This record gives sequence, C-alpha cells and structure tokens, in this order.
Amino acid sequence: MFARLRRKRINPVLRDLLEETHLSVNDFIYPLFAKPGVGIKTEVSSMPGVFQMSIDEIVKECDELKKLGIYSIILFGIPDVKDSVGSDAMCEHGIISETIKAVKLTHPDMFVVTDLCFCEYTDHGHCGVIDPVAQTVDNDITLDNLAKQAVIHAKAGADMIAPSGMMDGMIMAIRDGLDGAGFVNLPIMSYSTKFASAYYGPFRDVAESTPSFGDRRSYQMNPANRREAILESIEDEKEGADILMVKPALAYLDIIRDVKNSTSLPLAVYNVSGEYAMLKVAAAAGIIDYDKIMMETLLGFKRAGADIIITYHAKEAAEILRA
Ligand code: PBG
Ligand code: ZN
Repeated sequence: MFARLRRKRINPVLRDLLEETHLSVNDFIYPLFAKPGVGIKTEVSSMPGVFQMSIDEIVKECDELKKLGIYSIILFGIPDVKDSVGSDAMCEHGIISETIKAVKLTHPDMFVVTDLCFCEYTDHGHCGVIDPVAQTVDNDITLDNLAKQAVIHAKAGADMIAPSGMMDGMIMAIRDGLDGAGFVNLPIMSYSTKFASAYYGPFRDVAESTPSFGDRRSYQMNPANRREAILESIEDEKEGADILMVKPALAYLDIIRDVKNSTSLPLAVYNVSGEYAMLKVAAAAGIIDYDKIMMETLLGFKRAGADIIITYHAKEAAEILRA
C-alpha cells in the first residue's frame, strides 16, 4: 500500500523508460586556450587536465575530441603582447584569428565558437577600454571594438560568436557589425546573465586575465539578484541573441530555471573553472567519487533547463557516456 511511487523504481528497464532528463555528448562545448608558439602544452596547476596550447597542439586536440564525439569547442586567445585596448583581438593575424583559421582548415567539421571579450588581451585585464576618469570600462567605445572583434572572428571562419563582456547593448552592436559585413547567418550565443563570481579564479590563471586593479562588479552581475538576472537575458534576446547563457552554473541552478521559463530561446550554461577545480581537488584527496559526482552535476544542469553545457569535463563525461 506504500508502493505507489516505489513500484516504478524496482525494475531497471522501467527506471530507464521513466528517466526524464538525458545527458548526451551533443550537449557539450569544450573550452580550449590558445597561445602563440609551437609544441606548447602547459598544464595550469589550478585546473588539472586543462592546458594552454599552441595552435598545432589545438589542432591535434581536435582529433582527440572528435574521437570522443565532441564536435563543439569554444576558443580563448592568450596573446604574447597585451595593450590598453586589446589590439591583438582586433588583428587579422592575432592569436584568436590564427587559431580559428587553423582549426577550420584542418577540421572543417568542428563547430568553432569564439569567446568575444578583451580581458585576455588588455594589459589591465578588464573586459574593454578603460575610461581614465571613471576608472571603469567605457561601455560605448568597447561596443565599437566588440563589433570589430566579431568581424575578425567571422572572417577567420568562426561558426558562432559568444560575447562574454557584459556590456550594455553588446548584442545589438555585434549583430549590426556582423550583418554589415555580410555575416547574417552567423549566430550569437550571448553570455547574457553572467555574475561577478569568485568561481572564475582558476580560469584567470589559465587565461592570464586577472584584472590588475579593481574587479568586474561594474559590469558583471551581483550574485544576489534574481529579477535582474532574468532581465539581463531578456534584454539580450530583444537585441537579437540566438542563444542565451547563465554563468556560473552550479550555484545558479535557480537562475537557469528562471531564465528557461522566461524565454523560448535555447539556453547554455557555463560550468566554470572553480566548479571544475573543486571536483578535481576533492577527487585527488580521495573524498568523492569523481565520475559519479561529475555526471550528477552535469545532469543537474540539464534538469534545471540547460540545452547546452560548456564544460571542462566534456572529454571525461563523453567517455562515460560512450561506455
Ligand atoms: C572572459 C571570460 C571569463 C570566463 C569566460 N569568459 C572570466 C571572467 O569573466 O573573468 C570564465 C570561465 C571560467 O571560469 O571557467 N570574460
Ligand atoms: Zn572579459
């Protein structure tokens, strides 16, 4: 008489039949970090298993990814020379441009997403041009530069542009820039709801993008704000974003669900560096079952409403899904 719910859990085939949420390798985008040079593959201590790679190594890595069934990557560029505006990001021969070209030449079937921002390219580490009086990022000058950077990515062969700088009006500016240059078919995946999060710490070691002064709280969102989180994404939808995003993921499952319920656009989540590093460290200490916790976490993102998961776990999860 108390079996009403449990009787559906006894048979394993029935359990599978009734499974409501499914993870697939098709859900993943894998981040890669490009550095100038040849034969460079440097592991960064705060993110075990994540490397800064030269272009030749990235090309080899794409072979490995495809063997695992992963056909989507997101590229970050780390230039040798940084300046106040992030010129390398707007140069046809900059690190990101050359990486896109090399990957598309050798792997035309790889779907290449590009992170569009300036923090890896500026000497001050902020996501745009600094207004010298206000000592924060100048929104509108940065918009012009973002549009230029987007066209550079597009010309190099990027398949999707992912602006991550949280500037007001960035989607409209980038859409106009792309359309004006003839790239009307290039989709934009906006980092539409991005919080000012301590979970990005390990990423900034890998991407060499820690701000030299201040923090990002004048452009990234306050983690306390739920209504504003929805507003940010809906604003980007109105400006023409094709896919929305919530970032980070783990501490923001409620926001993922809120945004999902507020839009008909596809939704991505970014399972960020700090979330990844925490599992790695706990696993190394022998206190968690890494594989199970990783899969449970990724499934949680899908259940919360994610259609796409950007994750450093993609390769490990793909191996488990194949087995
Ligand atoms: C750049 C950018 C960041 C991340 C993705 N794009 C860092 C930041 O905003 O400081 C974080 C990714 C991660 O932590 O894995 N704007
Ligand atoms: Zn940035």
